[in-house]
Amino acid sequence: MKILIIYETYSGGTKTAVEFMAEELIKMNHAVDIIHAIDAKPDSFSKHDLYIFATPSWLERDREGQPHINFIKFMEKFEKESFENKNIALMGLGDATYAHFCGGIDVLMKFLEERGGKILASPLKLDSYFMKPEECRKIMKEWISKFTLKN
Ligand SMILES: Cc1cc2nc3c(=O)[nH]c(=O)nc-3n(C[C@H](O)[C@H](O)[C@H](O)COP(=O)(O)O)c2cc1C
Repeated sequence: MKILIIYETYSGGTKTAVEFMAEELIKMNHAVDIIHAIDAKPDSFSKHDLYIFATPSWLERDREGQPHINFIKFMEKFEKESFENKNIALMGLGDATYAHFCGGIDVLMKFLEERGGKILASPLKLDSYFMKPEECRKIMKEWISKFTLKN
């Protein structure tokens, strides 16, 4: 499979998680590209079999549980775009002590679903990645194996 990961990060956790995931996917013989959401263009979504979106959740524009600011800009830029027939999975980092745990993923998922995106798996919401990276990595490995077939 050709897989594109679209991500953003503030404190580096999502970057580390995405890099780990990419390594695992490559071990499974998938081809993986990684871009920042801020660099995504409509034609970024034409060449891959699967698109994995990854965002931390944050306080943005006075609202808790939002995706990274660059994903908010992404949603503004892609408001009129279609994701019909695009295979999509979403993951992200958060902290369960916040009222909207990983709320940013839900916001982004709704946006992509409303534009026809085909969500392949339940979104992966990782709690306190920096406190328990090994546990999170194990969960990530299980998650990706659910919707990616070995090449
Ligand atoms: C100002 C601020 C707001 C946050 N808001 C939320 C939130 O609403 N929901 C949540 O689950 N986590 C929230 N978090 C936790 C972050 O999502 C978490 O620390 C995550 O690991 C950061 O990922 P990053 O290292 O990729 O930036 C917040 C953290 C900060 C500092």
